[in-house]
Amino acid sequence: MSLDSSAWKVLQPDGKWRVVVTGKLPGNRWLEILLAAGCRVEIRASGETLTTREVRDAIGDRCDACIGRLTEKCDEEVLACLASAGGRVYSNYAVGYDNVDIDGATARGIAVGNTPGVLTETTAEMAVALTFAAARRVAEGDRFMREGRFSGWQPDLLLGELLWRKTVGILGAGRIGSAYARMMVEGHKMGLIYYDKERNQPLEDYVTAYGDFLVSRGEEPVTCRRARSVDELLREADVVSLHASLDDSTCHIIDAARLNLMRENAVLVNTSRGPLIDEEALVAHCGAHPLFRVGLDVYEDEPDMRPGLSGLENAVIVPHLGSASTWTREAMAVLASLNVTGMLMGYPLWPHPERISAFLGEEYPEAVPSIVNAGKLGIPVLKA
Ligand code: DGY
Repeated sequence: MSLDSSAWKVLQPDGKWRVVVTGKLPGNRWLEILLAAGCRVEIRASGETLTTREVRDAIGDRCDACIGRLTEKCDEEVLACLASAGGRVYSNYAVGYDNVDIDGATARGIAVGNTPGVLTETTAEMAVALTFAAARRVAEGDRFMREGRFSGWQPDLLLGELLWRKTVGILGAGRIGSAYARMMVEGHKMGLIYYDKERNQPLEDYVTAYGDFLVSRGEEPVTCRRARSVDELLREADVVSLHASLDDSTCHIIDAARLNLMRENAVLVNTSRGPLIDEEALVAHCGAHPLFRVGLDVYEDEPDMRPGLSGLENAVIVPHLGSASTWTREAMAVLASLNVTGMLMGYPLWPHPERISAFLGEEYPEAVPSIVNAGKLGIPVLKA
C-alpha cells in the first residue's frame, strides 16, 4: 500500500507493527514510545481531519493499530477495514469517544482506547473561564475596547452578574464536572446542586467537609444537593455547566422547554459535547432573553455554528479548547500511544484510573492505561 509521501511521514519503516496516526500530535514523547516499542509509525503530516475514506485508505490492508481524533468517525466502515487489516486497537486522541462505534469495535475484537484523567482540571478551568467570561461580560468588554467605544468609566457600563455565594449546578458529576464544581465551590463559595444518575458521595462529602471548614472559620457554610431531576437543577441554579457525555439519552437534553425553566439571568456553560444543547433553540432563547448568558466551547455541528449564534452579545464562544493546554495535549498523546503499545504487547489493563499520571514519567507500568471496552473484550486487569 502506498500513501502520498508528501502528506504522510513514515518512521522506522521496518518496524514490526504498523501504526497509523491520522494527524500530528503535540510533543515528542508519544512518538518515542511508539518507536521504542518497535512500531513502524505512519503519520499524516498535516493537521486536517481525515474523511472516512482517507482513514480507510491509510489503514490499507495491513495495520495493527490506529490513533485517531474525535473529529474522525470510527464507524462500521473504518472498523471493518481495521479488522480485516489485522488491527487490534483504535486509540482515540480524546477522553470522549462518541465518535467511535464501541459495540461494533467490541464485536470485531478491537480494543478502543481513550485518554482520561489528564484533561480533568484543564477542561474544568475552561468551564470556569467561560462561566466568568459570560457572567462578567468579558468578551463584550474586549470587543468594546477594540472598537474604540470606551469613553471613560460609567456606573452602569456592561453590568454583569456576581456569582459569589450563589448556586452552581452541574449536569453530570463525573471527573470534569466534579473538578469544576470544586473550583466554583472552593473559589467562589457557591452552593452546589448536581444532577447525575449516580450519586457522587465523595463529592457530597467533600463539599460538606468544606462547609464545615468554613463554619470553623466563622463563615457561612456551602451546601451540596443532588437534584431529583434535570428540571429541578435548571430551575434552581444560577449557573449550569454541562458535563454529561453524549449519547441518545443526552442529545438535546437542553432544549427550548428546558431553557425556559432556567432563570432569566442564568449562565449556561458547555465544554462537553455540542449536541447536548439544541443550538437553534439556544439562539432563539438568547435573542429573547438578553440577561441570559452562555459560554460555549463545543457546537452541535462542529466546526459550523448555528446561524445567529455569532451575532449574540450574550454568548461567549471559543473553538473547542477545553483540553487545550500544552501539558494536557502532550499527556493525551502519551496515553494514546501507550494504549496502542500496551495492547500490542499484550499488557493487562491499568486498574487505577485515578493514578493515570503513573504513565507520564520516564518509567511507566507494564499496563494499558485506558481501554473503554476492556471488560467486554475480557482484557485482564493488572493485579494490584
Ligand atoms: C475530549 O478529549 O473528549 C475533548 O473534547 C477534546 O480534548
